[in-house]
Amino acid sequence: MKQVFSRLMLSSAWALMFVVIFTKQATAQLNPYQYSIAKSAVGKKGAVASAHPLASEVGLQILKKGGNAFDAAVATQLALAVVYPGAGNIGGGGFLVAHTQTGKSIAIDYREKAPGAANRNMYLDKEGNPRLDLSQSGHLASGVPGTVAGLFTTHAYCKLPFAELIEPAIALAEKGFSITKGEASALNNHKNGFIKYNTRPTAFVKDQPWKEGDTLVQAELAATLKRIRDKGAAGFYEGETAQFIVQEMQRGGGIITLEDLKSYKAIERNPIVFNYKEHTIIGMPMPSSGGVLTQQMLKMIENRSIGTMGFHSKEAVQLMIEVERRAYADRAEFMGDQDFVKVPVKRLTSDSYLQERMKDFVAGQASPSTTIKAGAIQPESEETTHLSVADQWGNAVAVTTTLNGGYGSMTVVGGAGFLMNNEMDDFSVKPGVANMYGAVGKEANAIQPGKRMLSSMTPTLVLKNEKPYLVIGTPGGTTIPTSVFQTIVNMLEFGQSPLDAVNLPKFHHQWLPDQVMVEKDFPSTLKTDLEKMGYKVTPRGQIGRTEVIKISWKGKRIDTIEAVADKRGEDHASAY
Ligand code: DON
Repeated sequence: MKQVFSRLMLSSAWALMFVVIFTKQATAQLNPYQYSIAKSAVGKKGAVASAHPLASEVGLQILKKGGNAFDAAVATQLALAVVYPGAGNIGGGGFLVAHTQTGKSIAIDYREKAPGAANRNMYLDKEGNPRLDLSQSGHLASGVPGTVAGLFTTHAYCKLPFAELIEPAIALAEKGFSITKGEASALNNHKNGFIKYNTRPTAFVKDQPWKEGDTLVQAELAATLKRIRDKGAAGFYEGETAQFIVQEMQRGGGIITLEDLKSYKAIERNPIVFNYKEHTIIGMPMPSSGGVLTQQMLKMIENRSIGTMGFHSKEAVQLMIEVERRAYADRAEFMGDQDFVKVPVKRLTSDSYLQERMKDFVAGQASPSTTIKAGAIQPESEETTHLSVADQWGNAVAVTTTLNGGYGSMTVVGGAGFLMNNEMDDFSVKPGVANMYGAVGKEANAIQPGKRMLSSMTPTLVLKNEKPYLVIGTPGGTTIPTSVFQTIVNMLEFGQSPLDAVNLPKFHHQWLPDQVMVEKDFPSTLKTDLEKMGYKVTPRGQIGRTEVIKISWKGKRIDTIEAVADKRGEDHASAY
């Protein structure tokens, strides 16, 4: 691929030639100045779906070189950190859920953690009022980044040397690439934030407005990526990069220290595993609420014949709203980092508990959130990004990674060229005070030094006959688990294709606020039906950007691998 780059001349002529063409099939070769977007792609040997065509294509090239799905997932994430800076990152964190060709299910947690000097009241003023400006933007909003540690933990499952996986990202940062229309408008919208929250000039600000096809070069980021290539995780968590981060924090009132960075560890955890009828679902455990919420929601509908009600029937939608409401009430009360608080996962996901939760469900009638509290338990921005990858050997990898809000804290580390996250806002800064996604929390998700903030990210696999069948995930803050839930139900119960399951309108209920949020193209008759049942229905912007891969098997061999990228963004599916 290096050769591909060197054949290209970085000139405005290339930029002018840049076009985004929406096509049905992946046709693009990796040309960082001219590429197209494909919404679906089918192959036999491997597939990648991610938020950016160049990132998906980087992943595909790695598969073609003999890398497995883990190699492709690492290379795609690194490419996203360059070509999709609003959410792709090395200054944030994420989760990976995977199933290996040898039949092992794994979960890697590389969520950010609160710095050692953090405390539960750090975002409250003297009167105890929340200062969400501080938890959401600028230096104090950042948790200690986990992504780089996560990539090296993942590398244990890879086949190719790390240096080979990071090379495409280095080239894209160093030589530049043409930005998409969406990126141009997002950079323009954040210009004031970049100016306000930065102490040094950044690659993201220029005098004239950005436009589609402009070249973005990130020289400092390229140098940081080279330090990671040459020194491993220490190239980020120690030495020059760590110094840059700490100096940036000191210039802007942040609290991350060299010790916080050096002591960061990604953690392999036991995934959430459960059966839904004849399928097995593999999900992310705490500190993500995603796996538990998916389990709760699917188990609450399992015995209710939802398949016969029909997609977007008022009966099915109301049932799904009510299970979403109940699961999210539990999220607010009980969920947080299990290394710090006791989360009653066993009980929350037990059949008897979930049956009990549905006892007050009345078909055709809204159950107000004032009457639905969290269950009785004995003490016990929109920018995130998801990638789905599958290979010819039967490895399947789902990764969701985030800076939290768009461009995270908006602070770029001076000298190192990457954006820091604003993940601290995912803690409950004060009981009952909503975070930027409207989520409330309590003690279980209060800030403590070293603790990981509760997440909604839900990278998920569905196995059929013990083989990977679906790879699913999406960004979208608190709408993530409901999007994943609906995508699974759409395919397993309503028999939809991945394309329909991803693209047809979604809805969302998260207990509080007590309303059903629906996408703008949600059927209006269904909206009226729900209102008649007593629901407040609020149209909102798009829900998620879901990437799905479906793997079809013929006996023990893979027959086809189909990747679908959400129509809601510039997401791209590649396969061969
Ligand atoms: O971890 C979480 O749940 C959030 N930080 C995710 C944020 C997100 O999905 C924003 N994207 N639209």
